[in-house]
Amino acid sequence: MAKVTIAIDGPAGAGKSTIAKRIAELKNLLYIDTGAMYRAITLKLLNNNVAIHDKDRIKTILENTNIEFIEGSIFLDDIRVDDEIREPRINENVSEVSAIPLIRETLVGLQRKIAENNNVVMDGRDIGTRVLPDAKYKFFLTASIGERAERRYEELVKKGYGCNYEEVVKEITKRDKIDSERVLDPLQKAEDAILVDTTGKNIAEVIDIIMDEMKSIDS
Ligand code: CDP
Repeated sequence: MAKVTIAIDGPAGAGKSTIAKRIAELKNLLYIDTGAMYRAITLKLLNNNVAIHDKDRIKTILENTNIEFIEGSIFLDDIRVDDEIREPRINENVSEVSAIPLIRETLVGLQRKIAENNNVVMDGRDIGTRVLPDAKYKFFLTASIGERAERRYEELVKKGYGCNYEEVVKEITKRDKIDSERVLDPLQKAEDAILVDTTGKNIAEVIDIIMDEMKSIDS
């Protein structure tokens, strides 16, 4: 059977992971959340007090780190870290960590290997441009900053984190800026990606748009 590869990119809170998970279920694909991988390495650096300019220690850490997805959960060195990687301290540091070339190189290699061996839907910032430039289906999800912040705020409140809406706006605006302005593989729509603005749309509506677009690519 022909390989299926779906790339979904976009800024924080655009709905990528919710949509990608649902598409994975509908099309029986493996869902890979590349943001979770950058978050996991950020967690490891923070737990080991590694400064982001300390290239030697980062290299050693990367050589001694194992990141795996098992049944929808992410494991860092055999420990499930699904909840820890969503903590505010990770949000505050993940974009700086993700801009480090050695970290990107390592994780991109890992992501490509997973996609070589599986039919995947992968979401992130550079999937359509860098990780899987030959993906047959590429989407770039976006939404207004107000709506993206609102979605993220509700998620955090549901998880019991004390935060306020204005802080969330600030945090995702800062992350978008770092992600879009970094030299290596910045957040950017691949030329051949389909732009989907999810502002004012619910999950079912976005899924319908994506499924329809895939049908028309196939026909
Ligand atoms: O879920 P949310 O949109 O908040 O972010 P995420 O997908 O979990 O990604 C967290 C951070 O990882 C992003 O802000 C980027 O700095 C980085 N990232 C990246 O650089 N490249 C990717 N392919 C995925 C995430």
